[in-house]
Amino acid sequence: MNITLRKGNLEEQACDLLIVNEFSKWEKFGGATGAVDDRFDGRLLKIAKEEGFKGEKSETILVRTFDGFPAKRILLVGLGEQKDFSSQVVREVSATAYRAAKKLRANHVVSILHGAGAGKLPAGMAVRAQVEGVRLGAYEFVKLKKTPDEKPHEIKEWEIVTNDGNHLRAGKRGAELGEIVARGTIFARDLVNEPAMEMTPKNLARVAEAVGKNSGGKVKVKLLTREEMKKLGMGGVLGVAQGSDHGPVFVHMEYEAPKAKRRVSLVGKAVTFDSGGLSLKPWDMMTHMKCDMAGAAAVLGVFSVLAQLQPKLHVDGIFAAVENMPSGCAIRPGDVLKAMNGKTMEVLNTDAEGRLTLADALSYTSALKPDFMIDLATLTGACMVALGEEISGLMGNDTSFNERLIKSAAEAGESVWPLPLDKRYRKLIDSKVADIQNLGGGKYGAAITAGLFLQEFVGEGIPWAHVDIAGPAFAQTPINPYTQYGGTGAGVPMLIELLRSL
Ligand code: BES
Ligand code: ZN
Ligand code: ZN
Repeated sequence: MNITLRKGNLEEQACDLLIVNEFSKWEKFGGATGAVDDRFDGRLLKIAKEEGFKGEKSETILVRTFDGFPAKRILLVGLGEQKDFSSQVVREVSATAYRAAKKLRANHVVSILHGAGAGKLPAGMAVRAQVEGVRLGAYEFVKLKKTPDEKPHEIKEWEIVTNDGNHLRAGKRGAELGEIVARGTIFARDLVNEPAMEMTPKNLARVAEAVGKNSGGKVKVKLLTREEMKKLGMGGVLGVAQGSDHGPVFVHMEYEAPKAKRRVSLVGKAVTFDSGGLSLKPWDMMTHMKCDMAGAAAVLGVFSVLAQLQPKLHVDGIFAAVENMPSGCAIRPGDVLKAMNGKTMEVLNTDAEGRLTLADALSYTSALKPDFMIDLATLTGACMVALGEEISGLMGNDTSFNERLIKSAAEAGESVWPLPLDKRYRKLIDSKVADIQNLGGGKYGAAITAGLFLQEFVGEGIPWAHVDIAGPAFAQTPINPYTQYGGTGAGVPMLIELLRSL
């Protein structure tokens, strides 16, 4: 499907489906929707009244036009209340419209530019959000189905049409950016959705190599073998990996813009499957644990589009790919591992493995002395309990960097919420035999004690943020019209926005 932005009057467009919109509490139709209604002799308004169309978010009515009107059908989509309007609404209604168009098996769709008129969004953002909503709404992971649920239909043309020349100019860059964000997000979704039997540590590292190859030389990729990790003293990664037949791979990707002034390091948790290890998870907590590499998937998603995004930065993408399995070789509760920065970690629960691998990944990254370091990790069920499936937990050592991330996320249509890295809880991870233990004292505050654990491996003076994406990384039920079941690509839009803002 091509998505294009073009100048024109909506009421004059010949197409299979014409998409227009209206806010709730409407009395008459305004703007471009009003012009379509005028050309349709006021019948759209009449039908909307008769059908009781309220204009609630994603409410739709479909009208067949017959002779005398250029478009075969009109889909009127509700935008909800004007006071609640945002780019987020555009993503949602665009995905809803896409689904309706696909169900109708339309080939050529023309859509209004949602949000740039009465919605008062900057045109670039309005176009970008529509592109993201349509692309992400169209995403499905169906390659493993012999018989897909629906007969496949591909819409050929999706044209966003506006008669405002200023909107057109600002919209072009927005369209490009929307494509970039959607592509990176879909890249991450595919990696998370791939079963863990395929997405082994080695194969995840191969994906990084492929990203490097496809970047036209802009992304360099270095892989460390088990032997090299041993030399560097990465006891955390090696410890977690030792129970699995699939060996670990440490991955360092690097993108460097000419004359880059700042270095930003993105670190992802990359546990390709988390069985819990000897502290085995109950079966119903294990069903979706192929998603435990979603942090690395987000970093890979960002790297897959860096060559197009071209930030003026030096960017690192780092992850330690491992599988957490129980076996005769697996680490045991009571074992003590030594991380790359020399700190010893007592393993009390082998299911708190993410922090053991991140200990090394963060130590390694700190040695690069980045200006900013951020890690994304499906780290704790506790964070999910606290913030649910749509909001990630944010912890960090630098208030202004935290604020920047919250802003980047909001701008990109994601949500992160701060949790305190309170010093008072540090004592909860004191170990009786080692420098630190991988469990908090009791059952409370476990997202925070995990964050405090990670902080022990952050180099002096490096602004760092930890984003716990355990909730948003994987949708067990549909979250909204453009986030259906499965991997969500959580973190990709936020990170892209962060890189743009730096
Ligand atoms: N990968 C899990 C966290 C997780 C839970 C991610 C649900 C996505 C959805 C992590 O490794 C884990 O098992 N954490 C434990 C830590 C506990 C043993 C301290 C948890 O949160 O229960
Ligand atoms: Zn675990
Ligand atoms: Zn895990």
